[in-house]
Amino acid sequence: MTLVGPSGPWQSVARSVGLTAPDGTVAATIFAEMSALAVRTGAINLGQGFPDVDGPDSVKEAAVAAIRAGRNQYAPGDGIPELREAVAAHQQRRYGMTLDPATEVLVSTGATEGIAASILALVSPGDEVITLEPFYDVHAACVALAGATQVTAPLVPRDGAFRLDVAALRAAASPRTRMIILNTPHNPTGAVLTRAELEAIAAVARERDAIVVTDEVYEHLVFDDVAHLPIATLPGMRERTLTVSSSGKTFSFTGWKIGWVCGPADLITAVRTVKQFLTFTSGAPFQPAIAGVLGDDDVPRALAASLAGRRDLVCDGLTAAGFDVAVPAGTYFVTADASSLGFDDGVDLCRRLPELAGVVAVPVSAFCTPGSPTWESLRSWVRFTFVKERATLEEGMRRLSGLRARR
Ligand SMILES: Cc1ncc(COP(=O)(O)O)c(C=O)c1O
Repeated sequence: MTLVGPSGPWQSVARSVGLTAPDGTVAATIFAEMSALAVRTGAINLGQGFPDVDGPDSVKEAAVAAIRAGRNQYAPGDGIPELREAVAAHQQRRYGMTLDPATEVLVSTGATEGIAASILALVSPGDEVITLEPFYDVHAACVALAGATQVTAPLVPRDGAFRLDVAALRAAASPRTRMIILNTPHNPTGAVLTRAELEAIAAVARERDAIVVTDEVYEHLVFDDVAHLPIATLPGMRERTLTVSSSGKTFSFTGWKIGWVCGPADLITAVRTVKQFLTFTSGAPFQPAIAGVLGDDDVPRALAASLAGRRDLVCDGLTAAGFDVAVPAGTYFVTADASSLGFDDGVDLCRRLPELAGVVAVPVSAFCTPGSPTWESLRSWVRFTFVKERATLEEGMRRLSGLRARR
């Protein structure tokens, strides 16, 4: 469909994430629509995924001290050396990955800029890029901005959790596959890709000589005995993988937008070349604060433990309310099928949920290519966040418990 307004790549971006209204105007994202609905109706907002409690005071104080100490001018484009060193040390300590902080680590404005710069630097018009589906919208939007074609490999609900359809992934690959974009732990499904799934992806990447961009912003937020495994640590993958992460989710400072990209020097040089003309640099006083806390695994460990309990609370509440729940192994999110409650359309349900139950959620179809088979099969699924205080979640679940009677 043609969008009303000046012609340009923004139109492909809007189309890639389903922002075309029936009259050809640009629709607000479903996230913006649902958050506005929450404000308007006073409903509990379990749609948007940001914590309602900040990270540690000591980290805030470190940022304040950095401002007072005059760290208020441009930071180096690559990021301050302390932070690049802290990221390299983090990757070594947690995953055994050895990185040169001078050439193999690049600080970015959140993971978002790291992903955007990686795609824009390395993907050309005519290339194909494989993403998972459902996908985080930034992945699809940036592929569209690069003029490339997005091909998807679905995650499918199986025995109460989402798993990668490996056969579909293999079928999605072609001689034109330039890049594979992953996200693990995965938003919105909460899936943490297993070693076998990652090995299958790695095999496709090697066979097609594709670059892998892996979005690992929830790397610390995994539950039970599940382990997060970066694909860059698999054989033959270091030289073709850009690992993107950020401090936002790990330390509950999503507004600071301190992220980073790690990878081999030749790929990082390509990403840096583009990144320096996007923001160049940002967050000067926040960078030392994050550098100071990145060595402390206790903060994310405590957050993951508390999130696991809140995940259980929400999974139990949704199940009791009549939803079919896919139990997440990581992230801030749980997805649930509302068809068991008689709701076939998640968009319609989310629009009515504030009135029906005083709660806001987002439809999983917003993370799919409009009209795709995965979009169709997940139409009745909705996503709830559990990164809210327990009392808020308890009240949300209490309200949802009456949903069946009210439909
Ligand atoms: C999968 C995924 N990647 C990236 C981001 C954005 O990260 P940042 O705020 O560091 O740009 C989010 C935020 O919701 C996310 O869910």
